[in-house]
Amino acid sequence: MKGLIPAAGKGTRMRPFTRAYPKELLPVGEKAVIEHAIHTLKEAGIEEIVIIVGWKQHAILDYLRSGEEYGVKITYAVQDERNGLAGAIKAGEHVIGNQEDFVVVLGDKYLESREVVKDLRDFHDKKDFDVTIGTQEVEEVESYGIIDPGKDNKVKGMIEKPSREQAPSNMGITGVYILSPEIFDIIEEIKKGKGDEYQLTDAIEKMRKQNFDVGYKGIVGEYIDVGTPGRLRRANKEINFRE
Ligand code: UTP
Repeated sequence: MKGLIPAAGKGTRMRPFTRAYPKELLPVGEKAVIEHAIHTLKEAGIEEIVIIVGWKQHAILDYLRSGEEYGVKITYAVQDERNGLAGAIKAGEHVIGNQEDFVVVLGDKYLESREVVKDLRDFHDKKDFDVTIGTQEVEEVESYGIIDPGKDNKVKGMIEKPSREQAPSNMGITGVYILSPEIFDIIEEIKKGKGDEYQLTDAIEKMRKQNFDVGYKGIVGEYIDVGTPGRLRRANKEINFRE
């Protein structure tokens, strides 16, 4: 199984830092946030990693290089237009291929537990789902993709950044997914959604409506979206970092 890390976003909420480099290089503890994602993938036995770059891409290439330092092989793919997360995933199609499922970890999310990807992968294989979404209970439902949880860890529906009234639960999509390569064709079929971007949530929801098995699993440990200055501060204040 290969890993894919989207890291092409402009990070407008993180300005002025992101005028100079992508938010994925901001430090959480002793490391850039994207390095934590690489370690988490490696811990799950995933050593072939595709990083999607775009905004300030050379800074990421200079920083991470071939991945040798982390014991992984990194390939870079460019998302030409910053048109949303689904667009970033699509940009990796030629490297990921259509043979096997792959795992996505967003490059701006800090996962405290390094077991998260391994657990999700084992669960995905055991259940034989087409898509498995890592979830966690969230307070601000308006800031997340929210799932409608069904029986046996199946998802009944999902909605991107709902209002409190619209939200079917408080189970937020964390930015860790296992996807089957059918997602690439589905992404081509979706229209732009919230924020005038191609939303991965819309693509997965479309797969679900076409009777693909979409499941969810709660993830353990702290999970922090490091996309705003306040949350970056929180991550650096609250988490006990390992070496
Ligand atoms: P965000 O939506 O939080 O990133 O995407 P953003 O658009 O850069 O942030 P703001 O809203 O302008 O502040 C979550 C993850 O998906 C990647 C980002 O780099 C981040 O890791 N992403 C997002 C892409 O790779 N491409 C995109 O077009 C959008």
